[in-house]
Amino acid sequence: MTNSPRPFQWTHQQPPFPTGLIDEFLSFWERVFHYSFYETKGILRGEESANNTDVLYVARDGQRLAATCHLTISQTDPRLGGVGEVAVPDEFRRLGLATTLCETARDDFFARGGEALFLGTENPQAQRIYERLGWQQLPGTTVMVCTQRPAAAKTFLEHWFQMRSRPCRIKVAGSDIRIPLIPLALIDHPWTILDVHADLLSSRQYVQHSCMGLYPRYEQLVSKGVVFAAWTEDNRLLGLASVKIDGPFASIDAFAYEFDQGNSLWKQLIRRGLQWVAEHPISECYCLVAVSDETKHSAFHSENFVDVGTGESLTIGEEVIKTRKMRYDLG
Ligand SMILES: CC(C)(COP(=O)(O)OP(=O)(O)OC[C@H]1O[C@@H](n2cnc3c(N)ncnc32)[C@H](O)[C@@H]1OP(=O)(O)O)[C@@H](O)C(=O)NCCC(=O)NCCS
Repeated sequence: MTNSPRPFQWTHQQPPFPTGLIDEFLSFWERVFHYSFYETKGILRGEESANNTDVLYVARDGQRLAATCHLTISQTDPRLGGVGEVAVPDEFRRLGLATTLCETARDDFFARGGEALFLGTENPQAQRIYERLGWQQLPGTTVMVCTQRPAAAKTFLEHWFQMRSRPCRIKVAGSDIRIPLIPLALIDHPWTILDVHADLLSSRQYVQHSCMGLYPRYEQLVSKGVVFAAWTEDNRLLGLASVKIDGPFASIDAFAYEFDQGNSLWKQLIRRGLQWVAEHPISECYCLVAVSDETKHSAFHSENFVDVGTGESLTIGEEVIKTRKMRYDLG
């Protein structure tokens, strides 16, 4: 790491961390961002170490934490990574700490064979730092990507999905989708609602403000329902199905990046979800489809879902989206 005028101590560490250090990180981030980071506790305890490589880059001023940057690399697909928790409190700002930590994380990621490093920001000051280090904003989002070849950044998503191999295997998802979910959620998609359970809307119609915040939307579903992921032979994530349980009722949804026009991957995902529903004590299964999503409605219809009327409107951020409700006969 480069030397700053002040004698900071630079380290990088991987979970599992001792409780004292976890508490120190959580209260540091809460102080800098003004919200709770409690949900990252599992990562810091090392609970995701089978699926993701997490590295905390840290600068200290003596004993005091002065700056952090958190790199996460997918183990299923180490070509993809994400950066979060770039935090410097007021008293240590404008000394180059964030720049140094992000630069180091970026270089380590590429040295390990990484191809695309994502982060999300709406802070113009942070954005300037990232731009200087090679990150570029993706259209329709506040997400930025840094690729080894800068010219590849703007068209990264299209190339990423054009390069996919087939066929796909469908597996129960957990934190292995934390990073691969980012390009899947950001790629241009014609449907308005990609996944109703994760409040996930198409970046074609709505600005996607989330990056490292995308997977936390699935964490509840992973623990209180199920999520299925479709992976190509070369470990690219191409689609997701989610089932949400509410007592005896299930709600199902799925979206996929389609490389043919027949929604065949989407159908495989929905069928896997319905199979899971049939194996559990569930009496009714529904889906909610945006009124404007005609082709999604037809796709559910072709899988024997029938209309049962108007669904509840979804309020996602400032958007209100009208839906219709469909029912699947569990026999
Ligand atoms: C955004 C944030 C991480 C920046 O941290 P930082 O350590 O102050 O960043 P740096 O010092 O590397 O760069 C900040 C500025 O100081 C300048 N700078 C860097 N070293 C300097 C030095 N030795 N002397 C004077 N200026 C310096 C940089 O050029 C940059 O200038 P700019 O604002 O004109 O672009 C920090 O303000 C923060 O934690 N904000 C709140 C949380 C947040 O939004 N995090 C980002 C989430 S994506």
